[in-house]
Amino acid sequence: MKLAIVGGGSTYTPELIDGFARLRGVLPLEEIHLVDPDEHRLGLVAGMSQRMLANAGHPARVVGTTDLVAGVADADAVLIQLRVGGQDARHADETWPHEAGCIGQETTGPGGLAKALRTVPVVLRIADVVRAHAKPDAWIVDFTNPVGIVTRALLEAGHRAVGLCNVAIGFQRRFASILGVAHEEVELGHVGLNHLTWERSVQVGGRDELPGLLHDRLGDLAADVHLAPALIAQLGVVPSYYLRYYYAHDEVLREQLAEPTRAESVRAIERELLELYADEAQREKPVALERRGGAFYSEAAIELLAAMRAPGGRSRVVNLRNDGVLPFLPDDHVIEVPAVFRDGAFVAEPVAPLPDDIRGLIAAVAGYERLALDAAISGGRDRVLRALRAHPLVLQHDRAEQLTDLLLAQNAPFLEWA
Ligand code: G6P
Ligand code: MN
Ligand code: MN
Repeated sequence: MKLAIVGGGSTYTPELIDGFARLRGVLPLEEIHLVDPDEHRLGLVAGMSQRMLANAGHPARVVGTTDLVAGVADADAVLIQLRVGGQDARHADETWPHEAGCIGQETTGPGGLAKALRTVPVVLRIADVVRAHAKPDAWIVDFTNPVGIVTRALLEAGHRAVGLCNVAIGFQRRFASILGVAHEEVELGHVGLNHLTWERSVQVGGRDELPGLLHDRLGDLAADVHLAPALIAQLGVVPSYYLRYYYAHDEVLREQLAEPTRAESVRAIERELLELYADEAQREKPVALERRGGAFYSEAAIELLAAMRAPGGRSRVVNLRNDGVLPFLPDDHVIEVPAVFRDGAFVAEPVAPLPDDIRGLIAAVAGYERLALDAAISGGRDRVLRALRAHPLVLQHDRAEQLTDLLLAQNAPFLEWA
């Protein structure tokens, strides 16, 4: 099996490679092609990856290339994990919204729109090359943020794509460890849009353990997502830590104004990682990689790729077309829920009706996401303004105008139409 990883020069790649090495029985990989425009990083990451596989006795060959066509040629699957503009653009997304009194974040709020505008056209161009050169039945697995919007762009353009995030698998592992059961035994009632999700049940052997967890471990669960225990107790479900940008917006903003950005912290971690990757004696995943936010993302990817080769197994949380699962959203919207792979496609599990507060927030953010994709594809200041105003963290027209000017000033070099 040939796997291509676009954005393969990412310092995250050894996380994936570590998973491939540990779970080699699940996925018969022969070739891993890392595609990246940054030759220097590519060399370091490909070298490190090859040493890790050799060290684990894994037979796969790692090829680093700047040539997208060669990298994806005849691939059985393509992972896309890129960040247009790198940590510099992310730092901007995390700061300019402050001028208008909004949190700065790379996927949530105004920064997330900027990222979508920069990213969607790039991913669509890559996907066209995949369609032309990869195996005809190859899947695109999208890790590229904002995953919901990017996955919808891919599906609307007719690509065979699925979106993936590590938030759900993180909860699955966390609940399993609290309950003292194997993670395979835990099935989540995970629902929402990418980075806007809630855990509504934690099924183990046909029993919902969530009420017991909320009773016995409320403080720990609240601390995990940095939210007030009283909020979680009242919701009766566990929100992801991305919900903090909504439920504790002003508190997050105050913190952000006093602290370095995540981009700055990640830059420092990346410098450390690249030094380790350059060291020929380094043959295992460095612990410093655990300081990135992508815990378990390799396992999520491998479980997904394996599920696509052995259909009909357990459900996995993915980003896919709604098709009536959340009846208050359009069929072509992309949602994040558990799904099984069956007859060559992901099929979502049914979702019980949502409470009014959660349904309302999902509907509002979905409205924003649709306008965001429209702006990313067709461009123009008016579309950007409309998307920003629709975001529940913005809403006020004056503020949306101000944010539009800031966004365009910061991102013009990345936007063909601006
Ligand atoms: C989590 C999210 C990803 C995001 C990552 C950022 O894993 O699910 O979508 O890309 O955090 O991690 P970083 O180390 O770059 O802050
Ligand atoms: Mn994610
Ligand atoms: Mn396992």
